[in-house]
Amino acid sequence: MKQENSFKLVKDNVALITGAASGIGRALAIALDQLGLHLILVDVEQQALQSVSDTLTGEPLIFSIDVANAAAMSQMAETVYDKHANVHLLINNAGVMGPMAPIWELEDSDWEWVLNVNVKGIANGLRAFIPKMLKQPDASHVVNTASEAGFAARAFVGVYHSSKHAVLALTETLAQELNHLKANIGVSVLCPGAVNTQVLKAARNRPESLSKTSAANEIGERLSSIYEHTIAKGMPATDVAQVVIDGLTTGRFYLLPHPEIADLPAARAAAVKQDLHPQFDPNLANFLTNTPAAK
Ligand SMILES: NC(=O)c1ccc[n+]([C@@H]2O[C@H](COP(=O)([O-])OP(=O)(O)OC[C@H]3O[C@@H](n4cnc5c(N)ncnc54)[C@H](O)[C@@H]3O)[C@@H](O)[C@H]2O)c1
Repeated sequence: MKQENSFKLVKDNVALITGAASGIGRALAIALDQLGLHLILVDVEQQALQSVSDTLTGEPLIFSIDVANAAAMSQMAETVYDKHANVHLLINNAGVMGPMAPIWELEDSDWEWVLNVNVKGIANGLRAFIPKMLKQPDASHVVNTASEAGFAARAFVGVYHSSKHAVLALTETLAQELNHLKANIGVSVLCPGAVNTQVLKAARNRPESLSKTSAANEIGERLSSIYEHTIAKGMPATDVAQVVIDGLTTGRFYLLPHPEIADLPAARAAAVKQDLHPQFDPNLANFLTNTPAAK
């Protein structure tokens, strides 16, 4: 069903992307630059952000900040609105993959890091920008990046899956609230399956203060090798960016680069209805037994 707000993806609009230095965020920056939008790019990786900026035809504003830092995000929003009267498109995309381990072995700092970036990073983006978007003259739109992991819970990646369930829930909540208020702000949630990015190297940006992580474990190491293979064969990030652009053009809420993900909620609903106990995916169990640990 098409959303009712009057947002349109057009040249000279202003778009802000978090996590813009790599992967999906980088691909979105390049695609939106080609459409002639004015960009604001946000990431913790300063050098990589600068090199994305250098490849664009436009001259983006760049902010090297941590989305988990609420004060920095709100200061950044002030600076952005000093320069632009409107932010038409806010893409809260920055996210990190947590360690792979049994859930009881995850450290407090594992939870803090992943939830801070994946969930609070988006909450910070919404708190900094939605009040301003509500007052600005032009229509706008918010995209939050969740994941297939928002629809299904998989063993040994519990913190990431928990965070992405939260992103899906907070984005569905946001859409209902803005709709109830008849705000001229649309909402979409991006839920990809495997995409060929640097997501498995997320610890490169982990803050020193939260560096204590779960001990190395054999299941985690085997699973890492399987994920590395899956991500390397994943969809190109440029294709994901195109799905986002198409979905914004047609007014979709659920942006699903891998359409089969739409079947996951029905599978869970059937399990709930039949009162089935959650089972570890037998194919993955089989792979785990037969896959050597990553080096
Ligand atoms: N790659 C996949 O298979 C996949 C699948 C589903 C969802 N996602 C989601 O897509 C989003 C983008 O990830 P990606 O796959 O492009 O990975 P990526 O690692 O290539 O890019 C993520 C970007 O986010 C930045 N970032 C990390 N922590 C940050 C922080 N605290 N503040 C600001 N920026 C920060 C990184 O520096 C990086 O540039 C994430 O939310 C991820 O969970 C990825």
